[in-house]
Order: sequence, then structure tokens, then C-alpha cells
Amino acid sequence: MVENRREKKPDRSEEADTSVESRPGLPVRIWRSVFRTPLTPRTERERKRVVLNHLVLHNRPVRLPERTIAFRHTFGLGGMSATLVGLLILTGVLLMFVYEPSPDRAYGSIEALRRDVRFGGLVRNVHHWSANLLVFIVFLHMIRTFFTGAFHGTRQFNWVIGVLLLLVVLAANFTGYLLPWDQLSFWAITIVTGMLGYVPLIGDGLIRLARGGAEIGGATLINFYTFHTTIIPVTIVGLMAFHFWRVRKAGGVVIPRQSDEDPEDKPATVLFVPSLLTREFVTGLVLVAAVMVLAVAFDAGLGEAANPGMSPNPAKAPWYFLGLQELLLHFHPTWAVVILPGLVLLALLAIPYLRYDEPMEGRWFVSDTGRTLATAGALAAVVLTPLWVLVDEYATDWSGWLGGLPPVLSEGLVPAVVALGLTGAVIHLAGRQYGGNRQEKLQAAFAFLATALVILTAVGVWFRGEGMSLGWPWT
Ligand code: HEM
Ligand code: HEM
Repeated sequence: MVENRREKKPDRSEEADTSVESRPGLPVRIWRSVFRTPLTPRTERERKRVVLNHLVLHNRPVRLPERTIAFRHTFGLGGMSATLVGLLILTGVLLMFVYEPSPDRAYGSIEALRRDVRFGGLVRNVHHWSANLLVFIVFLHMIRTFFTGAFHGTRQFNWVIGVLLLLVVLAANFTGYLLPWDQLSFWAITIVTGMLGYVPLIGDGLIRLARGGAEIGGATLINFYTFHTTIIPVTIVGLMAFHFWRVRKAGGVVIPRQSDEDPEDKPATVLFVPSLLTREFVTGLVLVAAVMVLAVAFDAGLGEAANPGMSPNPAKAPWYFLGLQELLLHFHPTWAVVILPGLVLLALLAIPYLRYDEPMEGRWFVSDTGRTLATAGALAAVVLTPLWVLVDEYATDWSGWLGGLPPVLSEGLVPAVVALGLTGAVIHLAGRQYGGNRQEKLQAAFAFLATALVILTAVGVWFRGEGMSLGWPWT
């Protein structure tokens, strides 16, 4: 025990040594003033500082492999997600001072916030843009962890925590969407909660649960508000703490390795302060600056006050659920809302636990074959998804062709089997053409589905007009 402690000491003194090499930058100076740990605390103040440092520093290693800090390895996406959550909590608490969660007052309180409160509109805009960026950045972070194979061994469960975080981030956005209580928010939430009705047997019960009654009203608003401002933030912060702890337990992020490298070789290391700290600090500052620019340049907007008697046309879900709404236009609701998204979610959760020929991790796309297969999968989706949307819109008549079958089969099972069969065929053909092991083929499937989701969402956002018919965005 004593031996071990003695071994650890040089690390700390190394940190101190390099710190005097040259005049340190601002992030390092701030860090030092707050976190420099006296090795033998003498006063009560020093003792408190040691406790605080251990609380914070246990999450950050003293040294870490030099290759892992390259920006293009992680693109700083995990850190950016955490920064955005921080901004959301900060601005969310400020919004609570003005916002009133009742159907009579909600809309007016946002009007007052924009009109009468100094910087009220800006705070709201920062909340709005951070929330929308968060969905996008967390999605990219998932893509990065997947394509660097960061879900094997000690990282398996952290992928699952990540999937849970993704769901909670969507729930946070969704519950926040209703709060302004304008036409857009009222009808978007009506559409999405209405989708729950397609769940067989318990659909009506689920709608009542989500809305706090049959229709959207005061009970829905107060329920959403409570989830949005208390339950969901606490869950996100708890899951994030768990997520970061797992990253630390795994020895940091995956280490990029060359294919011909001996896995036993120890990569060169650098000190956390200043090497990674400075990068994190700069990435955070640039992100906050970008959010501020968005918040100043583009207003979150506020439509007409909610009118339960008059639905806008088209009535659309929030943008991150438009892929789901698009599926509803092509498949029987049970398939569009329950079975297909359920299968995707199960597949996502299963990714770390599938059997792989050999775990491959660290490099982007894990190998050259992996890169080729992923590109092939994405390109196939770029061609096939719009084609499917067009053909299904104008040329198919599943229920007419299969008149004898119940709609859940003719408009659900059959087109789903055709669509999934097509996906399988693409992966199979790409595999035959380029070779590849299970993980590399899985990358092709993932790239295909992720790209298809992005395209379906884009169709929903820009190419669906009145009556949800297809059309050009500018007409
Ligand atoms: C991951 C965390 C969060 C996300 C994704 C999120 C998302 C959103 C969204 C999309 C809106 C609608 C904004 C708009 O008008 O366009 C909103 C509104 C609101 N949020 Fe959050 N939020 C989060 C955390 C919080 C927290 C922690 C609080 C308070 C403690 C909070 C309080 C509010 C309030 C009071 C509103 C109503 C004001 C408004 O609509 O502008 N939010 N949120
Ligand atoms: C609010 C949401 C999230 C936050 C704040 C967050 C934060 C982070 C951070 C800071 C890291 C370490 C640095 C980095 O990789 O950039 C990380 C790693 C990781 N995250 Fe997330 N994450 C979130 C969501 C997700 C999601 C949706 C997934 C996947 C489904 C995921 C899976 C992982 C995995 C597997 C690692 C380990 C990466 C490695 O070892 O290289 N995370 N996350």
C-alpha cells in the first residue's frame, strides 16, 4: 500500500515541474488557482481544497495518451454536449423566474419576457438554440463513438447509458416544446401524443397518461413543466455523472491505433493540465460564442397563441420527430410508431453485446474496409430513401394490391419486409464486393439507417407542405 502511494507521487511533481516551464495560459492559471492541491493540508481551508480537488479531479486523469487529445479523434462532441446541458440549466432556471405554467398565462408570460425583461428574449433564444443544437451534437457524438468502435469491453455499458441519455435529451426537448403555448407548440404536441394512440391495446390509456386527460390542456402543461424543469434535468445530470465515471473507469476515450501496431505498446502520454484542459476550454468557449451568435441573429419566435379549435395546415411534429411522422405516411401506424422504432432502439441497445470476430476499436471506421463499407451504406441510403418516398407516394397501392389482407399486414408487414429486405440486400452486396468482418458490415448497416433517418427528417422539414403532400420548399 505504502509502496503504491510512493509511486504515484512523481506524477504530481511532474505536473508541477512542467507547469513552470513557461508562463501558463489563462485556462491553466484559472485551473491552478482553484484546484492546486497542497500535498499535506495544514489548515482547514487547505483540507477543504483537497476534498474539492479529489471530487473534481477523480474525473480527470493526471496523464493521458497523447493521441486521444487530437481534436479530430472525438471532435470534442461529448464535452460540447455537456456544455450545452450546462447552458440549458443556467438559462432554464432564469426562464423559471418569469414563465407561468398555466394555459391562461403561459403565452402571455413569454410575450412579457420578450418585451419587458432586459435580455429576456436573449436568454430564451440561448435556451432555444442550445436545446436544438444538443439534439444534433448528441447524434453526432453517437456516430463518432460508434464509428471509432468505442463500445467494446469496459465501454459496453457506457454505450447503453449513452442511448438512455439520447432518449432523455429528446424527452427534454419534447416537454420544453409545449411550454410557449403557441399554435406551433400546441399542435406539434397534439400530433406526437396522438401517435401514442397507435400502440395496440393500451394506446388510449397512453394518450391520457401523456396528456393528463383526453385533450391537451392545463393538466398537460403542468405535467410537462414539472417533467421539464425537475425530473428530466435531475435524470440527465445523474446519467451524465454515471457516463463520465464510466469513461474514466475505461481509462479515458478509446486510443487510436494503427492496424500494424502491437496492442501491447504503451502510447506516449501528456499531462491533463495543460494539454487537454486548454483544448476543452477553447472548444467550450467557441461553442458558447456560436450559441450566442445564433441567439442574437435568429429569434426563437412566438406564433399566434394556442387555439385548440383551429389546427394549422400542415400540422407538424417537432423537427427531431419528423422522421417518425414521415414513416407514418408510408407504413401502417402500428409499424411506423411501434414496431420499426422499437426494432431500431433494440438494435441500438444490442450493438455492444453482439458477437464480433475480433473487437476493433480506436481508429475512425476501424479499418479501410470499414470506411469503404460505411460509405457504401450511406450512399445507398442517399439514393434509395428519396426513391422509396417518391415511389411509395405516387406508385404503390399496397392495400389495393393485397386487398385480402388486413391493413396491418398489407400496409405494414409487407412494405416493412420489402424495405428491410432492400437494406439487407445492400449490406450483403457491399460485403460481397468489399469483404469485411461482422463489425465492418454492421458499420454499413448503421451508416445506411442513420443516413436514411437524416433524409426522412429532411423530407419532413422541407418537402412536406399543405395536407403533408410532397412539394418543393420554395413553392
Ligand atoms: C437538456 C435540457 C433541456 C432542454 C433540451 C430544454 C429544451 C427546451 C425547449 C426546446 C424549450 C422551448 C423553447 C422555445 O420556446 O423554443 C424550453 C422551454 C423552457 N425550458 Fe427548457 N430545456 C432543458 C432544460 C431546462 C431546465 C433545466 C429548466 C429549468 C430549470 C428549463 C426551463 C424551461 C422553461 C421555463 C421554458 C419555457 C420558456 C420558453 O418556452 O421559452 N429547461 N426548454
Ligand atoms: C447528453 C448527452 C451526452 C453527453 C453529455 C456525453 C458526454 C460524453 C463525454 C464528455 C465523453 C468523453 C469525451 C468524448 O467522447 O467526446 C463521452 C464518451 C462516450 N459517450 Fe457520451 N455523451 C452523451 C451521449 C451519448 C450517446 C447518445 C452515446 C451513444 C449512444 C454516447 C456514448 C458514449 C461512449 C461509448 C463514450 C466512450 C467513448 C470512448 O471511449 O472513446 N454518449 N460522452
